[in-house]
Amino acid sequence: QQKAVAPTPPMGWNSWNHFRGKVDDATIRSTAEAMVSSGMRDAGYVYVNIDDTWEGERDAQGNIHSNEKFPDMKALADFVHSKGLKLGIYSSPGAKTCAKFEGSLGHEQQDANTYAAWGIDYLKYDLCGLRDQMKAAGSAEAAHKVMFDAYMKMHDALRATGRPIVYSLCQYGVDSVWAWGPQVGGNLWRTTGDINDKYARMAEIGFSQAGLSRFAGPGHWNDPDMLEVGNGGMSAEEYRTHMSLWAILAAPLLAGNDLSTMTEETKAMLTNRDVIAVDQDPGGRQGDRIDAEGPIEVWARPLEGGAVAIGIFNRLSVPLEAHVNFRKAGFAGDVRARDLWRGTDLGRLPAEYSVQVPGHGVIFLRVTK
Ligand code: DGJ
Repeated sequence: QQKAVAPTPPMGWNSWNHFRGKVDDATIRSTAEAMVSSGMRDAGYVYVNIDDTWEGERDAQGNIHSNEKFPDMKALADFVHSKGLKLGIYSSPGAKTCAKFEGSLGHEQQDANTYAAWGIDYLKYDLCGLRDQMKAAGSAEAAHKVMFDAYMKMHDALRATGRPIVYSLCQYGVDSVWAWGPQVGGNLWRTTGDINDKYARMAEIGFSQAGLSRFAGPGHWNDPDMLEVGNGGMSAEEYRTHMSLWAILAAPLLAGNDLSTMTEETKAMLTNRDVIAVDQDPGGRQGDRIDAEGPIEVWARPLEGGAVAIGIFNRLSVPLEAHVNFRKAGFAGDVRARDLWRGTDLGRLPAEYSVQVPGHGVIFLRVTK
């Protein structure tokens, strides 16, 4: 079940980073249309995910209904499916969500059944609202059990529907979720607090992922949060760093911008085939940091067939010369390389290679022997 729904990191879009509470039925429909017309669907983006603020009231039988922004979820799912895409939704194991809408506490199976009946394909389950129960539990162990059991409960509920639904654990890395996420059936789990559209926060999250590679694999992925590419708060160089780092991290690629108004530059970035191929490599091995020299960091991800994706990052805002030793990425001597953002073959490079890296930028290579 786990591997079947997320053999490679999920790709798609989520409403939160750009739209926050201003998401509605029309937003989702136009996003689905833009996903197709922009070429994103054909590049691999599949999930259109509604985040917090869709939730309405429960009826007398306890069934959850969407609020006035989403008049008919089933019809919306049919529309999204008719575009060759899948629909995702959001809830919380607590009584309330982060935005104080209705959560799933005490209604887990009922909600899972409702999602399945609507045709939902992906659930993001956000820890918010369970914090009080965790605190009340008394000890760290008891609090962990409250959280673990709550996530397990929804996993069992989703399973019982018989519908394949990607299960996204959103709990900010609490209790090193990478260590227990697979046990509750998580296909992905957030490893940190929220991203925002600034280089400092994106870099803080991305570069903090060193050492987590062994916890990810087909069906179960570390999630350093959704993309901010195209939201306007970073330069193109910084967004390329964002995408490159996420691809090396085998991170879910969930675009978080307004797809119906994005620029050609944003579209080109989000649909770069070479970069996506790194993220979606069938081997499913997450990359890690292999070298660091002050603000220069070198990260490498082993790919199927012996190639290695290598990101040479400059965390300083001014250009710097970086020195890379390809032997540290497992090569015996000189290598063959392709520059993934420029889309050019660089021919052979010496084992010890120096290159100028733009401020806050990256040189992203696919290297073979
Ligand atoms: C916190 C999550 O980390 C965000 O991605 C988003 O889902 C909000 N909650 C919604 O309230």
